[in-house]
Order: sequence, then C-alpha cells, then structure tokens
Amino acid sequence: MTRYSSTAFRSAKGIDWTLVGLLGAVVLLTSSCSWVGWNWDTPMTTVLPKSDFGRATHDIFMLISWWTLGIFIAVEGVLLFCCWRFRERPGAPIPRQVHGHTMLEISWTVAFAVILLIISIPTIQAIFKTQEAPAATALRVEVGGHQWWWEFHYPQQKITTANELHLPAGQTVAFFLNAPDVIHSFWMPQLGGKRDVVPHRVNHITLTPEVPGDYPGQCAEYCGMSHANMRFRVIVHTPEDFEKWVKGQQAPPAESTDALAQQGKSVFTQSTCVGCHTITGLSAGRIGPDLTHFASRKRFAGELLDSTPDNVAKWIENPDHMKPGALMPNLGMTSEQSKALAAYLLTLK
Ligand code: CUA
Repeated sequence: MTRYSSTAFRSAKGIDWTLVGLLGAVVLLTSSCSWVGWNWDTPMTTVLPKSDFGRATHDIFMLISWWTLGIFIAVEGVLLFCCWRFRERPGAPIPRQVHGHTMLEISWTVAFAVILLIISIPTIQAIFKTQEAPAATALRVEVGGHQWWWEFHYPQQKITTANELHLPAGQTVAFFLNAPDVIHSFWMPQLGGKRDVVPHRVNHITLTPEVPGDYPGQCAEYCGMSHANMRFRVIVHTPEDFEKWVKGQQAPPAESTDALAQQGKSVFTQSTCVGCHTITGLSAGRIGPDLTHFASRKRFAGELLDSTPDNVAKWIENPDHMKPGALMPNLGMTSEQSKALAAYLLTLK
C-alpha cells in the first residue's frame, strides 16, 4: 500500500512557514482595510440597519448566516471525527470499500431542501414588502444619478439639492430613480438599496428611516472614471428639524454685501456658469448641481471635497485635477476670479 506523508511541505520542526506567512498577510490586509475604511460615526455597513428596509434584508442575512454556521459546524465536526476515528494505524487492515449510501444521500438532500424552504419564506415576504407601491402620504424624492454626482429633487416641497439627501425619521419615503446618462446604483448601506438607476426608466424604492443621524451613500454600479467618487450623504432628521431644513431650502439664497462675494457674483453671471447651474433668482442651468444653497452643504463634488474656500477655488480652476474625469469644464478662470467665485458660492447658505 502506498503511504502518503502530510509532512512533505513542513520544516524539520513541523511548522509550515509558507502557511503561517500567508495567514499573517491575510490578517494584516483585512485588518488594515477596516482601519482605513471603518468610521464608527458613519460606518459603510449593512449590519447596523437604521430603516425598515435595512432590517428586512439584514434579518434574512442573519438567518442565512446562522443556518450556514450550523451546517459548517456539523459537516466539519463529522469530517474531523471521521479523520480521527478512521485514521491509519500500524498493522490495521484496508477498511471495507463502499460506494454510495442511498439513505444518507436522500436524507441530506431532503434536509437541505427543507432548510432552503425555511429561508425562502421570509425572503419572498421581504421581496414583496420592499417592492410595495408607496402610500400616497409618502414623502416623494426624485433621485437623479449623474456622472458623478447625485441630484435630489423634492417635488412636493419644490426643493433641489445635490449629494446631500435630507430625510425625516419615521416617515415613509418614496424614491423615484432615474439617470440622464448611464446606469448607476443607489445605495445607502444602513438604510437600503442597492437599486439600479437606469436611463429612460424610473425605478422605485420605498423605505422608512428610523434613527436620526448621518449615513454614507455610494453609487454601486460602475459608471465611468469617477464611479468611486460618486458618493452622497444621507442626513436623517427629527421631523421638526426636517421642517426647519425644508424652510431654509425654500428661502431665497442669502445675499452678502461682502466686496469679494459681490465680485464673485458678477463672475458667475458673466460666465458660462449660468448655462449649467441654477441659483434661484439668478440662473436656471440644469446640467450641473443646483447651487442655490451650496454653502449649506458640508461637502461638494460627489461628497469628495470639504466645502472650504480653498477647495472650491481649486475645483473651479481645474475640476478634472480634483476629481478625475469630472464633466465640469475648466473655464480658464484666473486665480483671482476663482477665489471671488468661491467666496460668493460660500455665502449661499
Ligand atoms: Cu454612478 Cu457608479
């Protein structure tokens, strides 16, 4: 009988250093991922759900995980027991050779069919629940997925904003998703999604955010050069704070008498900015984000940059350098013009 030795790849002391090295690298890599990407205030995760939609999908995930863990422990347990119980021993005869076991095969096929059936019941329920048509009382938000930023229009409140989605806790929200250019995917890990945002078609998603807070959102369908930079922020307010935010957004933009800001305002009105951007009372462009309340938003350019005078001026001077592939053109402004324009935009609270 041929004897196979499992010690072939081991050192003299019996330690497989290649395996130890590989495992170490995996541990380092996975933990460094979480050090860089994990932020406890706004975790990019689906395992801390904060809406009915989030809970529905998370419950199914946990149900499947527990069943999988149980099956893993049972199968590995039997495997390890058999390895130990039927291991080769000196002088032992060749064991009885068998092929197949009809009863065993029927029972594990039936057992797994039953487990799949148990999993399918809440899954199908959740599919129907999360696809339900929204109630007439739901807050409507029209989501536009653009290369590479998000537009949020509230038709009932007549508000348009960009990259910052404000919602009231406890109220059902009906999203109407559409894209003017290519396919994107609307995803707020703690609240819901992903759902594709497709040109020439309106997709729906309905959910009720439950806990006030800041949540990250991200385009989840590769859509070109700055796909990774197509982020947004969801701010869930208490109902009172949401009303305040709505009032603020409905008001005309703040006017500043600051000389630099006034200079920036004339740069805006005299350049091609007006063809692409809306500032209520000043311009009505529809290609780029609505800037009426630009300064009320913490970040810009698809949540990539903090809204600071320096960042805004640099962005105006060379958008493509700040966000690869940005579709906003470089207008060849002087540094003086871009600084004035940044000062003006940052007065638009
Ligand atoms: Cu939009 Cu990826």
